[in-house]
Amino acid sequence: MSVLFKGGTVVTTTGRTKADVFTEKGKIKAIGAGLDKKADEVLDCKGKYILPGAIDPHTHISMPFMGTYAQDDYESGTIAAACGGVTCVVDFDLQQKGESLHDALERKKALADGKACVDYSLHPAVMDPRPDVIDEVKKACREYGTPSFKIFMVYDFRVDDATMIKLLEETKKWGGLVQVHAENVYIIQHMNEVLAEQKKLAPYYHAMSRPNIAEEEAIYRAAKMVEMTGSRIYIVHLSSKEGLQVVKDARDRGVNVYAETCPQYLLLDDSRYKEPRWNGAKYVMSPPLRTKPSNKALWQGLSSGSLQVVATDHCPFDFKGKKDMFGKDDYKKIPNGAPGIETLLMLLHSEGVRKGKITLERMVDVLSTGTARMFGLKDKGEIAVGKDADVVVFDPKQKFTITQKKLHMNVDYTPFEGTKITGMPYAVYSRGQKVAEWQKDRVKYVGAKGQGRFVKREPFSGF
Ligand code: URP
Ligand code: ZN
Ligand code: ZN
Repeated sequence: MSVLFKGGTVVTTTGRTKADVFTEKGKIKAIGAGLDKKADEVLDCKGKYILPGAIDPHTHISMPFMGTYAQDDYESGTIAAACGGVTCVVDFDLQQKGESLHDALERKKALADGKACVDYSLHPAVMDPRPDVIDEVKKACREYGTPSFKIFMVYDFRVDDATMIKLLEETKKWGGLVQVHAENVYIIQHMNEVLAEQKKLAPYYHAMSRPNIAEEEAIYRAAKMVEMTGSRIYIVHLSSKEGLQVVKDARDRGVNVYAETCPQYLLLDDSRYKEPRWNGAKYVMSPPLRTKPSNKALWQGLSSGSLQVVATDHCPFDFKGKKDMFGKDDYKKIPNGAPGIETLLMLLHSEGVRKGKITLERMVDVLSTGTARMFGLKDKGEIAVGKDADVVVFDPKQKFTITQKKLHMNVDYTPFEGTKITGMPYAVYSRGQKVAEWQKDRVKYVGAKGQGRFVKREPFSGF
């Protein structure tokens, strides 16, 4: 299968050029003006951008959590990804008690293989940090192709600081990267008790129970452990202005702290928790939505390079029957998480690039090129000869109003319902095969099913 993308504007992290792109057998084979190539498909891309497919390195597909499951399985989740221009996901693989990282990976791969519609990889989440599991870090980095390790400083399955230090030391030896959900669990426990005594249990109090300082302190502590061990860390779903300042300060001292944020922390604020009829539960996620000054600081952090990646933390639970029922008497029982994999690229372009908060080139960096580099996806993330033909032909003028009815995620709401978008995927290719295209009033999935492959990632070689 070969495709000739004619007359589009190729966008990289450093600029844009009018050029044709020729792909064959799943790879980008040639880029240049007026390419003279015979192809099975010739696509007129005039007026369109040619972008590398977005990579979402923070998803929770089919994940058991808070007494239920994140609802997208690998088929629905990756169809939604493709329709949003995401051509690779790196999903969390939560280790169970007693399991090796290898067995956890095999268990999750069995859920994905034959179902995933775009390529995927996995981050082992270390939840049972036995000595043999810490020893397995070497194999995960050098053999399994999964050199990034998620740990939580909160929830029942959190790890303690001593374990974090051990993991940082071990990943430093083998080129791994520790990813951390950074919140101070004791601040949260204390706030939960105070709010329970006052019978403050509505969704809004979820945000009050997890103040900015809980994130700020945990990032500070994690950054100090990185400074002590000379290793590297990646803060997932950074949400607050104060947390960002800690990341900036550490980076200014030459400490290797990287961070991602998500569209919800850039675009939404804690007033959402006050929506009537318990609708605030839709936005219950951890960390919680913050206030407008944090939104503004995060955009600046993205533009200046203090933040390197935008991911989604896609973790969908229905509002009706789950978020409204489980947590009807107490915000602490509302399953934490929200859907977002399908709306990532459209939001970043429409709200970020079009509104002048980041450049188009920076968007390509934080959604694709920088993400591929961060996570060792050496064949992905760029429109360049030799890379995988994961291509989004993007129409920067196409209008769309976000509504759950026209999206593919297996969930009954989107936090961005009603948001007016300018700029949508026109056609999406995964390793040279068309998987999604704009049809009439929405993007539709047009690919085969289950052709997504597990991608082995490379460890970091900079130490
Ligand atoms: O609320 C969230 N973020 N749910 C998913 C699990 C996590 O902490 O990332
Ligand atoms: Zn988290
Ligand atoms: Zn998450």
